[in-house]
Amino acid sequence: MSVIEKDFVPVGYTADNITGKVTWKAPSNIALVKYWGKRENQIPANPSISFTLDACNTTTTLFYVKHNSKGADFSFDFFFEGEPKDDFRPKIEVFFKRTEHYLPFLRDYHFKIETSNSFPHSSGIASSASGMAALSLCLMDLEKQLNPEMDTDFMYRKASFLARLGSGSACRSIQGDLIQWGAHSDIHGSSDKYGIQYPFQVHEVFKNYHDTILLVDKGKKQVSSTVGHNLMHGHPYAAQRFEQAHQNISRLKPVFVDGNLKEFINIVESEALTLHAMMMTSQPYFVLMKPNTLEIINKIWEFRKESNSNICFTLDAGANVHVLYPEFEKEKVHQFIKNGLIVFCEKEQYICDRIGFGAKKM
Ligand code: PMV
Repeated sequence: MSVIEKDFVPVGYTADNITGKVTWKAPSNIALVKYWGKRENQIPANPSISFTLDACNTTTTLFYVKHNSKGADFSFDFFFEGEPKDDFRPKIEVFFKRTEHYLPFLRDYHFKIETSNSFPHSSGIASSASGMAALSLCLMDLEKQLNPEMDTDFMYRKASFLARLGSGSACRSIQGDLIQWGAHSDIHGSSDKYGIQYPFQVHEVFKNYHDTILLVDKGKKQVSSTVGHNLMHGHPYAAQRFEQAHQNISRLKPVFVDGNLKEFINIVESEALTLHAMMMTSQPYFVLMKPNTLEIINKIWEFRKESNSNICFTLDAGANVHVLYPEFEKEKVHQFIKNGLIVFCEKEQYICDRIGFGAKKM
């Protein structure tokens, strides 16, 4: 075990907490340089960088009651949007198993976990990032009560570390506004084990960037992220792709300083298409884009050419399109989205989001 992992194992607790509850709201995030491919224990095959979002988030309340003696199993009830949800239980069980070594109090309590999303469940927007981030923060909040001298930086770092064990990209959903995850030679302090706040200068233009999420396909994906990541093992282009992600993070450094939006667009759109190219060249191959995903991409390119706008798109592991644009183009782009893009959305649905500043205790 590395020094860092050892640091996350508590040596003991100075307080005892019998019963109580905590609530945290954690945001979703959208990667600019994509994480696709992982090694054992949720270690990313390449570094990634993301905008933390704001409107798309998960709120989780953790109620806890201490048992008289340590339980043989984890003991918890899980409620999603007010209803008991048994199909979520295995995910939580796995998460508790993976994190128990770092949270030795887990079997000491009975938990009730109540969670809800700000976005509709069937929107094609994955709630695993915001969900695992919110739950990790609730558990760290409890650990801070058991160890009141814990400092806040450590608490956030360990929350990111735990969230990663739940769902890789969740480690980028703890803080804001620009988060880097995965060891990179140019970024001092970067780690495969947790996300960090991007440590360099960032131009004002990126401080209030917009992300309008066009809901192209609200159904369940045919191929999960877990399966997709695994198909990068033995993928013919994997090595080049991982190297390219390192290079794109280096290329973004001067872009973030200067606010060079043309170069930003070039890197971000290329990353989105490369992610999907990896899917299409996996064995077995698969396609998550839909015809309307491509319609939207083409319309964005046309509009950018005609109007000299800085609008661009990115994609996650699905058919929905994230439309990115700076604050100063807000009116013009909103008009274009309403008149030109929402016809390609399922039931004309879309979500107006923007860059956010991280999770909050409620
Ligand atoms: O965290 P996961 O396992 O759901 O993977 C996320 C993968 C992408 O969204 C496609 C890219 C990313 O970096 O978020």
